[in-house]
Amino acid sequence: MSMQRWLYHKRSRRLYGDNVQQSHVALWFYEQLVHAHGTEWIIEVGMGCCASSAYFSTLAFCKGIPYLGIDDFEGDYQPPVYNLDRNLEVVKRMEGRVLKGDEFSAESIAAIKEVGADRPGFVLCDGGDKPKEIMELASLCCPGSVVIGHDWRLTPEKYSWTDDDLTDRSKVDFYEPWHSKSVELATCSAVLRVK
Ligand SMILES: C[S@@+](CC[C@H](N)C(=O)[O-])C[C@H]1O[C@@H](n2cnc3c(N)ncnc32)[C@H](O)[C@@H]1O
Repeated sequence: MSMQRWLYHKRSRRLYGDNVQQSHVALWFYEQLVHAHGTEWIIEVGMGCCASSAYFSTLAFCKGIPYLGIDDFEGDYQPPVYNLDRNLEVVKRMEGRVLKGDEFSAESIAAIKEVGADRPGFVLCDGGDKPKEIMELASLCCPGSVVIGHDWRLTPEKYSWTDDDLTDRSKVDFYEPWHSKSVELATCSAVLRVK
């Protein structure tokens, strides 16, 4: 196996000694975005096995900013490959807030507004319907907030989401100058910014 393939391979991905769904390149990239834009909070919609949540909540703790994660926990968590309890314990110790419930519920919307409406931050849209998350949830956040639409189109066959799914560009737009298209980080991420 080539070094590049090994680095991107799912079975090679570890974070704090445990399996993580995101590639390390993606995590590094998110961290650079957080640092580059004076991010004052981190929100993750769709936490999965919560390894990424352990990462984001630790980053938030180190920066002294809030982390909010939302998931109904009815998704694709795969024990024993991923260690949900251990990752949630990390989030708890890092003082992150976990909201268990539907991402579009009134409670979720209120929580996102409470954390994100007044100051710019970073939101990862990685739940069930990413275009809808970007349009309805990320656009609640303060102008200038950086938005990631995860699992954007990688190949024409894989993943449903494309730039054409973002119909209402009055609320979010592609981040400039770095990215006018999705960026490939083992999976693809659309990088946007709230207008
Ligand atoms: C791909 S996983 C998230 C992975 C995680 N962000 C990571 O990078 O490791 C998608 C998650 O979205 C959650 N999800 C999907 N639809 C949802 C909804 N309507 N409300 C809340 N959570 C939802 C699922 O439960 C699942 O855990």
